[in-house]
Amino acid sequence: MKILVIESSPHKNGSSNLIASSFTKGAKESGHEVTIFDAGHSKVNPCLACDRCGMDGACVQKDDMEKLRNLILSSDMMVLATPLYYFGFSSQLKLVIDRWYSFTTALSAKHMKTALIVAAWDSNDWTMEDIAHHYRTLCRYMNFQDIGMILGKGCGSVSMTKNSGFPEKAYELGRSL
Ligand SMILES: Cc1cc2nc3c(=O)[nH]c(=O)nc-3n(C[C@H](O)[C@H](O)[C@H](O)COP(=O)(O)O)c2cc1C
Repeated sequence: MKILVIESSPHKNGSSNLIASSFTKGAKESGHEVTIFDAGHSKVNPCLACDRCGMDGACVQKDDMEKLRNLILSSDMMVLATPLYYFGFSSQLKLVIDRWYSFTTALSAKHMKTALIVAAWDSNDWTMEDIAHHYRTLCRYMNFQDIGMILGKGCGSVSMTKNSGFPEKAYELGRSL
């Protein structure tokens, strides 16, 4: 299976990318081909809502989303990896999600497998409620098949993350595919 991992943190070697790299290790060991796109260090502009695409056509904007669109549409599975920012996706990831608009028809027709990886500082029982809910609603609307969520509570720094048990959970998810 072709798996695309979309990272979206400004920290190249931060917590969410650490958990995502464990997922990647497991998935590769199971024989899958993994491509990483770092939306945290790419040029993806906000959707202009010009509607020239009609939700099913070319986007008027020429930026790194052209490459990412092709990567997404040629993958079997997409993993969204993000730090938790005010109980939601990082803005770097939200920019990418909003740009799905121009190919929503094609993307939702793929019934793509997806997973969510999150790193957060807090570890309250409600820390991940809203991002998990948003992700589930995205899956429902986009016809994604959710393969799993790694909701890394108490992963506020790399050292916290290393001792949290979440990298191991992500590895197991990748390995199980
Ligand atoms: C703008 C901003 C918003 C944040 N919002 C939250 C939050 O709502 N809840 C939380 O637990 N941590 C929050 N954090 C902490 C990060 O989620 C946490 O440090 C995470 O480990 C960062 O992951 P990264 O290294 O992959 O970027 C926030 C950090 C920033 C910079």
